[in-house]
Amino acid sequence: MITGKFPNLRLRRSRKNDWSRRLIEENNLSSSDFILPIFLIEGRNKKQPIKSMPGVFRYTLDKLTPFVEKAIKNKIPMIALFPYTEKRKKNILGTEALNEDNLVCKAIQVVKKKYKNEIGIMCDVALDPYTSHGHDGLLKSGYVLNDETIDVLVDQSILQAQMGCDVLAPSDMMDGRIGLIRKALDKNGFDMTQILSYAVKYASSYYGPFRDAVGSKGLLKGDKKNYQMDFKNSNEALREVALDIKEGADMVMVKPGLPYLDIIKLVKENFKVPVMAYQVSGEYSLLINAINKGFVDRNVILESLIGFKRAGANAIVSYYADRLDKILK
Ligand code: PBG
Repeated sequence: MITGKFPNLRLRRSRKNDWSRRLIEENNLSSSDFILPIFLIEGRNKKQPIKSMPGVFRYTLDKLTPFVEKAIKNKIPMIALFPYTEKRKKNILGTEALNEDNLVCKAIQVVKKKYKNEIGIMCDVALDPYTSHGHDGLLKSGYVLNDETIDVLVDQSILQAQMGCDVLAPSDMMDGRIGLIRKALDKNGFDMTQILSYAVKYASSYYGPFRDAVGSKGLLKGDKKNYQMDFKNSNEALREVALDIKEGADMVMVKPGLPYLDIIKLVKENFKVPVMAYQVSGEYSLLINAINKGFVDRNVILESLIGFKRAGANAIVSYYADRLDKILK
């Protein structure tokens, strides 16, 4: 690197005025950099607050379209749908995942019918919203079975693709699921349905408020460490990504976000594929609660989001994505 020397070189010279600071900006955000997560709930005419995530709500299907419409107006490229499943619909096998009348299936159809390809729809592929034990797959003596779980995930993928889902996002961390889902999609005529693999998903305490949002909070037995990654590791993240790319993933996700910016950068530099980052519920909750208490000012949001871009993320799943007008200005 070639550089000058003080006093000829004064880096503060270009920082002095706002126009000049804007001129030398290296990173920025636009609405195309966001994926908006939406929580769904049964019933009618409800927009239900989520206690641990002030500013985020669960929507009934009739309240969903105005919310999606606003996202389209704001040029958000994609929404991600997550269901709050009532306890009575949960069981050990998570069979509600394969019910073609489940909340996610109905929501996909509502949005697709009204908005066609004006906005992309992404859906998680995993069983945790539907299992009575809160795990992402089928459980046997406390262990989440791999291959047996994949069989169900393949069916869940096909179902969601049939409903019109554009991007399937396996968030389960089973070994080998991307390849098998890809194969099944192609065989069933869904060769244009994309896969965004949650390739690097850490076993994290930052998911707490999400489990509350989808109604699996008190249910989780044990933890998810036998399938989600150990947060002490980064080489393993590269192995996960390599496998998923080989198996046919179109995009990969790193999750959580802010504590893992090093991983985002590593993945981007090593593989040059589209990398998404998930600013998860716990990250959102920490920021918004500190802002609401007046401990930090609102700019921490923009600052944290720009961090993702600096690290190399193509887009960010963020619970702020419905309020970008306030954040980006
Ligand atoms: C489920 C899933 C989780 C999140 C997204 N999909 C939680 C988990 O794995 O326990 C977390 C998202 C968030 O915390 O915002 N497979």
